[in-house]
Amino acid sequence: MRMYDIIVKKRDGKELTKAEIEFFVEGYTKGDIPDYQASALTMAIYFQGMTPEETAILTQAMVDSGETIDLSGIHGHIVDKHSTGGVGDKVTFIVGPLVASVGIPVAKMSGRGLGHTGGTLDKLEAIRDLRIEMSKKEFIENVNTHKLAVAGQTGNLAPADKKLYALRDVTGTVDSLPLIAGSIMSKKLASGADSIVLDVKTGSGAFMKTLEDSENLAREMVNIGQNLGRNTVAVISDMNQPLGFEVGNANEIKEAAEILQGKNVEDLRTLSLEIASHMALLAEVFDSYEEAYEALEANIENGKAFEYFRNFVQAQGGDVSVIDDLTKLPQAQYDIEVKAEKDGFVSAIDAESIGIAAMYLGAGRATKDDEINHGVGITLNKKIGDEVKAGEALVVLHSDDAEALDSVQKVLDAYTISTEKVEKPTLIHNIIK
Ligand code: URA
Repeated sequence: MRMYDIIVKKRDGKELTKAEIEFFVEGYTKGDIPDYQASALTMAIYFQGMTPEETAILTQAMVDSGETIDLSGIHGHIVDKHSTGGVGDKVTFIVGPLVASVGIPVAKMSGRGLGHTGGTLDKLEAIRDLRIEMSKKEFIENVNTHKLAVAGQTGNLAPADKKLYALRDVTGTVDSLPLIAGSIMSKKLASGADSIVLDVKTGSGAFMKTLEDSENLAREMVNIGQNLGRNTVAVISDMNQPLGFEVGNANEIKEAAEILQGKNVEDLRTLSLEIASHMALLAEVFDSYEEAYEALEANIENGKAFEYFRNFVQAQGGDVSVIDDLTKLPQAQYDIEVKAEKDGFVSAIDAESIGIAAMYLGAGRATKDDEINHGVGITLNKKIGDEVKAGEALVVLHSDDAEALDSVQKVLDAYTISTEKVEKPTLIHNIIK
């Protein structure tokens, strides 16, 4: 088999065979196929696309290029969730204990963040002493005992994807739906869950800015999951403004804990219940969506979900007194109000700019070696549709710098205030099964 023929075949819009795709992935991972031929093929895929079968074969080949996590020691049907990434997205911290509280095991391998705010692990480390490094044995024992564990990704998962993603990044071939879908799903599938709920974000703060692109990506990922024997559902949710009111690390943990204690932050609570209900349905614990939703909601109201969160923190060495008294979470030195310059209604909030403003404060990393400052962040006082008077605070910056001028400017640029009242954006756009 020759790489040259595979490139020409895809260039001409023909379907590649399993053997050809595997030849490429194996050869490229081992270093037998050079970057220039891999770039030519990814560019051909960019223009010609892939069939669902080709995409599934590509994904499986990327999974097989490295280790996979064996979760067979866990009792029960394991459901994972994955978000394509958004600002203020702390849904995992709510959904994990919530789903665990109805008896479904949640075994979550997560990463750190590069960008606006920390990743799941960085946010969790805002809880004093909480450990995210643990042996595989301890991870599995924790899931079996507490139904929930979150650990740092170990092992060499989907190395083919790592290499290909880096290549796509510098050759203008990131924005190909089959390549994105295969990339995300290869890492999910290597992490071992039986079923997967995808939270595909759409809007100004999302990877996919239009609903059509987000739905297409969701469809690609659901197809891959189904083709490779994992039940997969995608929820398309809005990211035209940050989710909830808090953006940062410690303050996001605080907001998640408050939801588990029954506080109603409308968008965050609704989306969390939606995702948790689909996870519970996939685990076949309930007969209907309505039954799942009701049981999960009841476990927020009766304190069970919060109890699972507390037990999870304790099991991973975290200081539970911080969870019992959320004011003990790390806090920044200064609170700086960013005030509206005119009367009107909030008509848009550029989520990405809010994320960048939080990063400037130290809540995220600009380079992979940066340290996260867990106490800094942003509290939004106004969201889309809210009325605002000149001089009223749009947000409060929690900062260790008394002025934080860059962040103040970024927040002012992020808000659009108009004279006409606008409706709140739709939160859940579609469910793709
Ligand atoms: N995230 C990934 O993991 N892969 C892509 O290709 C794009 C976003």
